[in-house]
Formats: sequence, structure tokens, C-alpha cells
Amino acid sequence: MKKRVLTGIQPSGKLHIGNYFGTIRRMIDYQQSSELFLSIVNLHSMTTVTDGKSLKKMTLDAAADMLALGIDPDKSYFWVQSDVPEVTELAWALSCVTPMGMLERAHAYKDKTAKGLHPNVGLFNYPVLMMADILINQTNVVPVGKDQTQHMEMARDIANKFNNQYGDVFTVPEAEIPEAIAVIPGTDGQKMSKSYGNTIPIFASDAEWKKAVMGIVTDSKGVEDKKDPEKCTVFALYKLMATAHEQKALADRYKKGGLGYGEAKAMLLAKLIETFGPLRDKRKHYADHPSDVEAILAKGAEKVRKISLETMEKVRKATGLRY
Ligand code: ADP
Ligand code: TRP
Repeated sequence: MKKRVLTGIQPSGKLHIGNYFGTIRRMIDYQQSSELFLSIVNLHSMTTVTDGKSLKKMTLDAAADMLALGIDPDKSYFWVQSDVPEVTELAWALSCVTPMGMLERAHAYKDKTAKGLHPNVGLFNYPVLMMADILINQTNVVPVGKDQTQHMEMARDIANKFNNQYGDVFTVPEAEIPEAIAVIPGTDGQKMSKSYGNTIPIFASDAEWKKAVMGIVTDSKGVEDKKDPEKCTVFALYKLMATAHEQKALADRYKKGGLGYGEAKAMLLAKLIETFGPLRDKRKHYADHPSDVEAILAKGAEKVRKISLETMEKVRKATGLRY
């Protein structure tokens, strides 16, 4: 049987090619090998986003992004968290088996309070809602970043605790945390990140891409100088999108001399347009037809809800809520 893989994404603005090659592409690939569950976790975002208009826009934008990038609603479970309200019912039941101390020790929560943020109860409870996302769908594998390690340990602990207390209700999930995920460099050579302002966006105009690519920092070697492709950000980014043959051809030209960085950048720009141009057109279609996106999400929620209701029935019986 195919493994059930689930992850949640908080809608958080403009995606860059570091996000794509770092994680999104892996998610898209799961649609072939596994049963992929991908939720836009708007209830989690409520802990920080405080106005309704923004939350609504960010939710639809995130959905359009993921659809354009290759999430196929027929080959996956793709939905908005709040459209399956049983998850909040489960979060309550789980909160009644979760020790206060466990949540008080959560790094994500402690970091935010240490920075002087006045947390709401939702932020404190954030890991419990995350457990509910995972457990309600009887998930086998959860691919997440390193920062979510502790939240995943909590989810496993509470799944076991609940099963011991009430009988076998939940699959105990495993985290999949890639150790050495390749770090995609940004235009300044550091890790590409929206907080460093060094990104190449996935969805942009040709002119915006050109500006970002021409701004990539290189060394000061002249056209005729021999160059080391492995030390060059332009080459590192080109490699992500080029065939093995194309990579070798460009590497050879770097090593021989006679290739200027301007020409290498033009080749990188052409690759960006070739790779992400068609996705950008798809993205525009969804932006122009929000009712298509809403229909896809409604169907996704309906599919997931069947599974969630099955689990909830077990929970209600086991806990005595079904009387
Ligand atoms: P940012 O650093 O831009 O704020 P996020 O923290 O929102 O990015 O990351 C979203 C996802 O994209 C995470 O799973 C993260 O591991 C991945 N990611 C972000 N930047 C990179 C990068 N430069 N290289 C590889 N993966 C990345
Ligand atoms: N907490 C996760 C993050 O910030 C998002 C998330 C919510 C999630 N529910 C989830 C991740 C369920 C995996 C599984 O990245």
C-alpha cells in the first residue's frame, strides 16, 4: 500500500526558487510515489495574521501557487484546513491528553515569547492543532524542515499516549527531515531567503527576472580568464534547471576561458524563462479565475472530510463522547 504523506503550508507570500528546489519539488514528486495530503493551514496562520482580508487573500494565493507548481487535485488531497472543521474538534480532544509542560517547552513558542511577543492561546496551542492535522488523517510520513523536529516528537508522543489511554485509534506518524537538503544560494551567494532580500521569485515578469539575474554577485575575472564553475552562483543556479549535458558544456566553457559572466547570466535567464515561464502563465490563469480555485479546494475538502470523519467516529466512540 502507498504511504500516506501529509504536510501543512502556512500561506506566507512570495515564493522563491530556493523554496521550489528545496522543498516544493519534493512535494510534487510525492504525488507519484505516495498518497499526498497537502493542507493550506489557515487556522495556524490565524495565530499571527490578524485581519480577515489578508488571510483570505493569502489563502487563495497559496492555493494558486501550489496548483501552478504542479499539485494535481486528482492525484492528491489538497484542501484548506478550516474547510474540515473536525480537525478543531480533534485538537480539543488531544489538548486533554497533552501535558501543559510539553507545550511550555516548545522552542517555537519560547523563541517568540523571548523576543517579547505577547502570545495568544492559539500560538501556545499551535503544536496540538498540528498533531490534529496529522493524526486525523492517519498519516504515515510527515516531511518537514528541521525547525519542526520538536513538534513532530510531540505528535508521536501524544499519538502513543492517546492510543494507550483509549485503545488503538491513531497511526503513529514518522517525521521525514532531510539532513542535508541542498542550500540554494541567493543573488549575493548566501542562502536564498526572503529575509535576506536576495531571492529570485518563481512568479515574476521577464524584466524582474532579468534584474535579479544581472544582480548576481560574481568575482571580478574578465572574459578571457579561466573560471571555476563550482565557485560561481550563476553556475549553481543554472545547474538546477539544466540537463547533465548542458551543465557539462557550460562548465567546460568556464574552465577554458573566453566566457564572460554576462553571457553566463544570459544563459541562466533563458533557463529561468524556459522552466518557470509556463508555470507563470498557469499561475495567472488561477489568479484570473478564483472561482476555479475555490471549486478545486471545495472538492479537496470533501475528499479529506470522509477520512477525517472516519477517524473522528473512532475518537468519539473511544473517548465516550459518542454516548
Ligand atoms: P525563507 O528562508 O525564504 O523565509 P521559508 O523559511 O519560508 O523560506 O522556507 C520554506 C521552505 O523552503 C522550507 O521548507 C525551506 O527548507 C525551503 N527553503 C527556503 N530557502 C531555501 C534555500 N535557499 N535552499 C533550499 N531550501 C530552501
Ligand atoms: N507547523 C508547520 C510549519 O510551520 C505547518 C504545519 C501545520 C504542518 N500543520 C502541519 C506541517 C502538519 C506538517 C504537518 O511549517
